[in-house]
Amino acid sequence: MMNLSMEFPLDKELTYLNHAAVGVWPRRTADAVKAFAEENMRQGAADYPRWMKTERELRGRLARLVHAPAHDDIALVKNTSEALSLIAYGLNWQPGDNIVSSSQEFPSNRMVWESLQTQGVELRLADIGCDDPEAAMLALCDENTRLLTVSSVQYGTGLRMDINRLGQFCHDQGILFCIDAIQSLGALQFDALACHADFVVADGHKWMLGPEGLALFYSTPEARNQLSLSQYGWHMAERAGDFDATEWSPATAARRFEPGSPNMLGIHALNASLSLLEDIGMAQVESGVLANAGSLMGWVDSNPDLELITPAAPGRYSGIVTFRCKRLDQAGHAQLYRKLMKAGVVCAHRAGGIRFSPHFYNDFNVFVHNWNQLLGDQVISL
Ligand SMILES: Cc1ncc(COP(=O)(O)O)c(C=O)c1O
Repeated sequence: MMNLSMEFPLDKELTYLNHAAVGVWPRRTADAVKAFAEENMRQGAADYPRWMKTERELRGRLARLVHAPAHDDIALVKNTSEALSLIAYGLNWQPGDNIVSSSQEFPSNRMVWESLQTQGVELRLADIGCDDPEAAMLALCDENTRLLTVSSVQYGTGLRMDINRLGQFCHDQGILFCIDAIQSLGALQFDALACHADFVVADGHKWMLGPEGLALFYSTPEARNQLSLSQYGWHMAERAGDFDATEWSPATAARRFEPGSPNMLGIHALNASLSLLEDIGMAQVESGVLANAGSLMGWVDSNPDLELITPAAPGRYSGIVTFRCKRLDQAGHAQLYRKLMKAGVVCAHRAGGIRFSPHFYNDFNVFVHNWNQLLGDQVISL
């Protein structure tokens, strides 16, 4: 049994409820980064083959995290936004094509598709603040829909989408299916095959507990073959490292999206973070995340001053619990957010309310104790 307080020795004065923004690193990640720094200082890249082994290990862990059939389906890119841009600017659009998405997406999963307007491509946004968000999205699809793109969990409201249902429809209709999974990978179990995903994108700095600047970009071989390349370099060649070759072709693997030297520091860090999630097991991580979110939603419900923005139905929420205070307007929530942060409750101001996003290792009882303390001491008045 892992000692969680050893792995997460957070400052006692902090209540960390912000994994939907930037997660914390476990101790083993901090240790891996320190060891890598020390190694670089003492011997540079003398043991580069070991670094490459860590890179392969990370690709394996990411493949297992999304249930990818092969390591080759995983590219390591800078961030979610970059991966979305590789897709948007890799596909060969025709004027009149449309893309279907939702009204609740994070800007990165909207702006890049909007930018295709200059090529005559239309972005259709479904209002998913309704009883059947998937039906709202599918109703916008027609014979000119080339791609449907959605977050598996919405960053503001925490609404969890039924990606299997969306993916089945896309599969049946020959529509490409792109999932921004940054708000679920590392929190929820995920199966890229079961949901018929063509593309899955997610940075590692939220629920995966890694550093910023290293993201997963999963693609099926058929889907990535539809993307033209816009970045080139030694690392994306089939025979990477054969520097004398004058003939080359892009790697058949997703590595073709990685033009140059990898982010080895990030790789060492994220590999360590994912090793923790694997040691715990994603089934257990998921049940911890859902239990914490469920307890928090119950707490919101029991407070007459508060109301939930996050849908509380089973299957509709993940790790994000967003709520508003009935008496406060937008400016009031901004002020409450600042007070919370000042009092050590690390959270976010999203979707017109306060967003709490505890991970599996957070202790709900500690949260309640800290909260009562804050209210008792009048640090925060709702
Ligand atoms: C749903 C979603 N997509 C994308 C991003 C941005 O990711 P990145 O910074 O890796 O591009 C965020 C960040 O909050 C997000 O919540």
